[in-house]
Amino acid sequence: MVNSDKPVFKMNQKRLVLTKLPLMVSAVVMVIFIVFNLCIKNPILLSSNVQNYPSTKRFSLLIGILTRADKHEHRHFLRLIYGIQSSPLAQIDIKFVFCNLTKQEQRVLLALEILQFNDIIILNCSENMNEGKTYTYFSSLPNILSHPYDYVMKADDDVYFRLLPLASSLQPLPRSDLYYGFVIPCQSMNPFVSYMSGMGFILSWDLVEWIANSDIPRNDSYGPEDKMVGKWLNVGKKAKNRVSNKPAMYDYPGMNGRCSHELIPHTIAVHRLKRWDQWLDVIRYFNVTKELTTSKLYNGLNIDSIFNLKL
Ligand SMILES: *[C@@H]1O[C@H](CO)[C@@H](O)[C@H](O)[C@H]1NC(C)=O
Ligand SMILES: *[C@@H]1O[C@H](CO)[C@@H](O)[C@H](O)[C@H]1NC(C)=O
Ligand SMILES: *[C@@H]1O[C@H](CO)[C@@H](O)[C@H](O)[C@H]1NC(C)=O
Ligand SMILES: *[C@@H]1O[C@H](CO)[C@@H](O)[C@H](O)[C@H]1NC(C)=O
Repeated sequence: MVNSDKPVFKMNQKRLVLTKLPLMVSAVVMVIFIVFNLCIKNPILLSSNVQNYPSTKRFSLLIGILTRADKHEHRHFLRLIYGIQSSPLAQIDIKFVFCNLTKQEQRVLLALEILQFNDIIILNCSENMNEGKTYTYFSSLPNILSHPYDYVMKADDDVYFRLLPLASSLQPLPRSDLYYGFVIPCQSMNPFVSYMSGMGFILSWDLVEWIANSDIPRNDSYGPEDKMVGKWLNVGKKAKNRVSNKPAMYDYPGMNGRCSHELIPHTIAVHRLKRWDQWLDVIRYFNVTKELTTSKLYNGLNIDSIFNLKL
């Protein structure tokens, strides 16, 4: 009995180990899998230099396109232009900015747009270009936004921005005391001489707050809007970090002397798109519609038909 029991016991012990081993291995694998997944979904666990950003986006940018309430159709076109773009680097919000509404028709149509798109900012001012709208825009933001952004842009509505190269160019730059754009005069390559063109310039959030709180812009808000911003920053000894992104930002060929040049592959912004043929040229040059596939649903429309189009 004793002799026969022993081998049986040994056999059982071996079986025990043999049956539990796969279980233990799979438990370990599972733990590793869970930890790995947590790290992937939450990069903060992997890298400590992305604190405060729960998503993988590294910074945020508000692009405020200053336009007029009546330009419904143009706004819809710009929604298409920007709706199909994004950047993995940045949370980019695009909003259309105007002064207070003056017509009943505007109130109804804008209410519809807001319900559908939620991309409208209506400021407390009467519509103007060089009488303080840009001041009202920047100075209102800290009070009306529900959260700050790293950067805020003021843009014109006749500009095509490419969000991917824009975000890539901002990524390595300082997050504070920054003034970024296309420096005027056209031939200037010095971002301190003298101010960034109104086509689209960016201020870091600390400068937006400064504009909201300082007497310097408040006392001096009337005048060519882009020039005034440069003047405030100079008088206030602000924006130690300045970047003028030439030749990536420019005016459409032939539209504005030395501020214009031919379309180039590494473009960030093309300004002064006043006519449809100019927009079409830009859309085709940058292969904006390249994702289009052929389908029975849209007879004859395909990439080739877009490129064979005669202007
Ligand atoms: C709008 O601006 C006017 C002055 O231009 C001011 O009297 C009024 O209080 C402002 N309204 C709001 C809601 O801030
Ligand atoms: C529109 O803006 C002006 C400020 O320029 C303000 O005086 C006026 O009260 C505003 N109107 C409305 C309806 O908010
Ligand atoms: C702005 O104007 C106010 C009132 O006129 C004046 O008291 C203040 O000194 C001015 N500030 C600047 C920086 O010009
Ligand atoms: C657009 O696509 C064409 C064909 O693939 C390519 O040769 C060209 O470089 C692209 N243009 C840009 C600006 O990426």
